[in-house]
Amino acid sequence: MARMSAAPAAALGIDLRVLATSRQESAAQVVSDVCLGAHDDEHAVLAFADGCDVVTFDHEHVPGPILEKLEARGVAVRPGPRALVNAQDKAIMRRTLEGVGAPVPAWRIVESSAHAQDFAETVGYPFIVKTSRGGYDGKGVWRVESASHLDAVMSQPLPPGAVWLAEAAVPFTQELSAQVARSPSGQTAAYPVVRTVQTEGICSEVVAPAPGLDPDRAVEAQRIALDIAGALDVTGMLAVEMFDTGHEIFVNELAMRPHNSGHWTIEGAITSQFENHLRAVLDLPLGSPNAREPAAVMVNILGGDVGDLYSAYRHVFARDPGVKVHLYGKEVRPGRKVGHVTAVGSDPQSLLLRARHAADYFSGAINE
Ligand SMILES: Nc1ncnc2c1ncn2[C@@H]1O[C@H](COP(=O)(O)OP(=O)(O)OP(=O)(O)O)[C@@H](O)[C@H]1O
Ligand SMILES: [Mg+2]
Repeated sequence: MARMSAAPAAALGIDLRVLATSRQESAAQVVSDVCLGAHDDEHAVLAFADGCDVVTFDHEHVPGPILEKLEARGVAVRPGPRALVNAQDKAIMRRTLEGVGAPVPAWRIVESSAHAQDFAETVGYPFIVKTSRGGYDGKGVWRVESASHLDAVMSQPLPPGAVWLAEAAVPFTQELSAQVARSPSGQTAAYPVVRTVQTEGICSEVVAPAPGLDPDRAVEAQRIALDIAGALDVTGMLAVEMFDTGHEIFVNELAMRPHNSGHWTIEGAITSQFENHLRAVLDLPLGSPNAREPAAVMVNILGGDVGDLYSAYRHVFARDPGVKVHLYGKEVRPGRKVGHVTAVGSDPQSLLLRARHAADYFSGAINE
């Protein structure tokens, strides 16, 4: 995410400094001002922030106490720690969302599998068990099918500071993401609501706008995201992941940074999520979030058995000059997100076929 912020920062003449653990990290390869250090090392973060006008994030794992220390030193931290904790801890997030009246699935903090079994009596099997902290890409989320499965899931160790959450399994027809940008002055911009598709817990595809989404429900999703951004005093980009059951919308979780569901905006929107994140955290007027074309699709490139992704360029570019490729400079490992392909136009179905073809060629799933 930080790497994809480098292009709009360069265009706008904004100096980016990156905190990275090595020069080989994705963003450190393309940003000249790199501070080496870990995001959970207080000394490293304080030294990094020295001389920065604003500190922001491309993930939510910087510990809250470090961010509070930064704020106490007068550094502008955007989003601030009180907002960000809702993207760090799903139990805090659920409680906050309920407090602001956002629609959430039935949920409960459960201390033991016996306690979770009580919850199962009310919602039935299958239901969802998650760790409140430390999960990503579907790690830390289980669809629990039976009492013995529940015992097996909850016998695993919890990540530090985490609790177990039980949630009703929402019978969604599609998953949505509603992204908004919000500045400290309170200006907001809402992007078109998109469909996200997860495969084995990892986001695989995004279609903008979400196909078949009732226009009133799309506005409702944008309204929910704007309300959350305001109520939580979010600054920067906010992604609200949602479930659409065809009748109702429920909020799944929040991300307070550029998000995979918004990569399509680089080519597909007047202002990308990366540019609007920069504008928002710097308290500059926001750019238009409107789409340039009737449809845009994004397909993630997952690591496969092709180590040298560059070697695929000749074929992919020659076959379809209309698709746009982004590689992240990450070492290829099976299943890891190493890049994405975007296609914009009018028919989402044909755009998807083209973008999937390119992504499959990069991952080695096809060879022609
Ligand atoms: N209550 C629920 N009902 C139905 N499906 C759910 C529920 N909670 C999670 N899921 C499914 O599991 C996926 C991952 O859940 P969640 O977004 O909470 O985890 P994550 O690992 O933090 O995700 P991310 O990859 O966005 O970081 C969701 O996208 C959805 O497909
Ligand atoms: Mg998620």
